[in-house]
Amino acid sequence: MSQVFCAKLAENQPRGQTEEEFSRLVATYQEADLNLGRRVFLRHCSVCHQATGAGASKAIPPLRDHIPHLAAHPSGRMYLSRLVLFGLNGPIAVNGQKYFNTMPALGGLLSDVELASALNYAQVSWGNDAHTPHEALVRPSDLAKVRQDPKASSATLKLRQQLWPDGVRTASSGR
Ligand code: HEC
Repeated sequence: MSQVFCAKLAENQPRGQTEEEFSRLVATYQEADLNLGRRVFLRHCSVCHQATGAGASKAIPPLRDHIPHLAAHPSGRMYLSRLVLFGLNGPIAVNGQKYFNTMPALGGLLSDVELASALNYAQVSWGNDAHTPHEALVRPSDLAKVRQDPKASSATLKLRQQLWPDGVRTASSGR
């Protein structure tokens, strides 16, 4: 694991977390390295979502203060895996703002490790780590599983509507 990643983890260790929980967190991060995640994110995601995770008003949803709320759902890792592998074509709502746009499928371009790393980079950046429980970090094996599911390549939008029937709200909106 990279030293930067270790340092970042140590910095972000929530108060009260036991040694055992912390080691589990480190073990999870080991699978998907933050440096790799940063590189992949800057090359393949930031063109739309911005290097700050802010998105672009009305066209591209933010990842800052948003992705942890997707990931925290029991099916969140599976949803995020589908999203990056197969893309998404709205309409969706994030914190009351509607988006009806297309996110491209990236599964043909990037490996499971690269995609997991980019998602986890977004999950621990821009203050998102405060809302990201370690179970929510995406493993490369999550992506591998979704890739093998022939049904997963369609209906990502339907899945989102099932998991969040009332839309996804961010922490700043109180949920
Ligand atoms: C070409 C632009 C583009 C690129 C590149 C892109 N996205 Fe997106 N992304 C979008 C758009 C547009 C949406 C909203 C789609 C919609 O309106 O249905 C979105 C939605 C999302 C969402 C929110 C989904 C939800 O259900 O709320 C996440 C998380 C996300 N993208 C992560 C990523 C990650 C991680 C990468 C890089 C691996 C990436 N995106 C690359 C355009 C992009």
